[in-house]
Amino acid sequence: MCGIVAFIGDRSAKDVLIEGLTRLEYRGYDSAGIAIIEKDKIEVFRAKGKLSILKELVADKELTASIGIGHTRWATHGKPSYENAHPHFSNHIAVVHNGIIENYLQLKEELIQKGYDFKSETDTEVIAHLIDSLYEGDLFDAVRKGIKRLKGSYAIAAISEKEPDRIVVARYDSPLVIGISEDDVFAASDIPAVLNYTREFIFLEEGDVALLRKGSIKIFNGEEEVTRESKHIDWNPVMAEKSGYKHFMLKEIYEQPRGIIDTIRGKYSLEDGKIYFGEIDFERINNIKKIVIVACGTSWHAGLIGKFYIENLARISVEVDIASEFRYRNPIIDEETLLLPISQSGETADTIAALRLSKKSGAKVVSICNVVGSTIARESDGVIYTHAGPEIGVASTKAFTTQLVSLFLFALFLAQKREKLSRDEIKWYLGELIKLPEKIELVLKHDKYIERIARDFINFKNFLYLGRHYNYPIALEGALKLKEISYIHAEGYPAGEMKHGPIALIDKDMPVFVLGTKSEIYDKILSNVEEVKARSGIVISTVTEGDEDIRGKSDYVIEVPSCIDELTPFLNSVVIQLFAYHCANLLGLDVDQPRNLAKSVTVE
Ligand code: F6R
Repeated sequence: MCGIVAFIGDRSAKDVLIEGLTRLEYRGYDSAGIAIIEKDKIEVFRAKGKLSILKELVADKELTASIGIGHTRWATHGKPSYENAHPHFSNHIAVVHNGIIENYLQLKEELIQKGYDFKSETDTEVIAHLIDSLYEGDLFDAVRKGIKRLKGSYAIAAISEKEPDRIVVARYDSPLVIGISEDDVFAASDIPAVLNYTREFIFLEEGDVALLRKGSIKIFNGEEEVTRESKHIDWNPVMAEKSGYKHFMLKEIYEQPRGIIDTIRGKYSLEDGKIYFGEIDFERINNIKKIVIVACGTSWHAGLIGKFYIENLARISVEVDIASEFRYRNPIIDEETLLLPISQSGETADTIAALRLSKKSGAKVVSICNVVGSTIARESDGVIYTHAGPEIGVASTKAFTTQLVSLFLFALFLAQKREKLSRDEIKWYLGELIKLPEKIELVLKHDKYIERIARDFINFKNFLYLGRHYNYPIALEGALKLKEISYIHAEGYPAGEMKHGPIALIDKDMPVFVLGTKSEIYDKILSNVEEVKARSGIVISTVTEGDEDIRGKSDYVIEVPSCIDELTPFLNSVVIQLFAYHCANLLGLDVDQPRNLAKSVTVE
């Protein structure tokens, strides 16, 4: 949801801002803009559409400024247009903003009364005029006064040509990090934006306002000056580059074996049959009676599989909720509940709201998150970090499988603590788990073959994905991946439910993607495939190597190595990801930045 970046220091502001926006473009790509202070005057460059248009606009401009702010937009208030593109300005002040100002109409009315003229339909322009109306010679003071009037969520960066030596930033319910490298000071919505320049970051807390000057940072929260420790981030800039792949999504699909290895590293001993979760104080969650998983989208799908893992291995009852539903249904949460939010970004507004609501009711919170220092990570009692590295493609891939592996290990950890599994049983599961990255590598070898299959299907308008048990959520995930990047309509269903309705849709124009790997309930899936074939449906199936039964009944098969039931979702995931990727790529679509989407959804 919108990306902001700001810089003051010894470099070319134009270069830092454009580089930062390039890395933030996944957050929004409706328009982009920068404002810099060039020879004591604010210069603004804005363009509707992709960042490439802004890049062209500024490419041959000789700009020497070393202070500026930039923005890439995902439209909320007002359509994508030049007028609505940030930065917005008011007299000598320019502002970029990520978030939603809920009381903007009331403020706008007030500011119009004061004589301000609005040029855009955005809520951000209200912030610019509001700061200007409160300005008495000190930008920091004006922003601090201004944010007291705002209701809603914001990450803001503001500059004034009257004070060309400073940037003021503020955050509330929208992410903002500050990067530091000697005299260079950066602010950005997300770490990858400035990873090329620094790995030292300060994570602002809710309500923080910071004054950034060359080599200096001052942070206030309310009336108090506060100290925020910086953290070293061990991601490297190459992780946020395509490294020869055509798209980030493809690169990230290929990074899954590595992501899984990094995520489980240090958390187990195969020899002892033990799981270690140093980051979780088990005594604090010892008495929990139930676990509630909250998440959105793909992370919610991971949660659905997590329920199987935890209930099956640790015998604790688990509810899984879509975060945006959970918060509005008066959920039953108390001190004996463990809330388990799952989020790649750690900034998804609905998941944060669910977390806060549960904490108020006394729940303990252990989250699964990919971004160190993100809001969800900071507000949880314990965090299980997925070590997927930065995920740039809008469609989640490696974040998903590293969430799954974290859930699997966490289930084993709970089973160990509650003595539901013996040491030998845990050893056995671990033995299977560590073979997984290699098995995923084998699935990746089918890439070209999956592309060939995709070629036969890109002109279909609808798709049905079927899976059962551990792979029912993969059916949901397969359908989500396909629709979000290829715009082909798809639905995911638990295969057993097919005859309760969706079977009516089956004919030669409705291909069915079956997650048909061997499992305890394999025979049931086989019957579902027969039901589809009996109605002239076209079937693409994943099959376990050596399995001839589903192969004989399917029109296309993709073979995956054999593994225990619990781990089949990983192998099937890679197949559905590659299939969706190739459909979108063959259709010539923008795989990494599909229309209408943004990477992290920081608004409700
Ligand atoms: C789909 C996708 C989204 C996210 C969802 C939650 O490919 O990426 O559905 O999974 O927006 O995001 P996080 O995990 O950052 O909370």
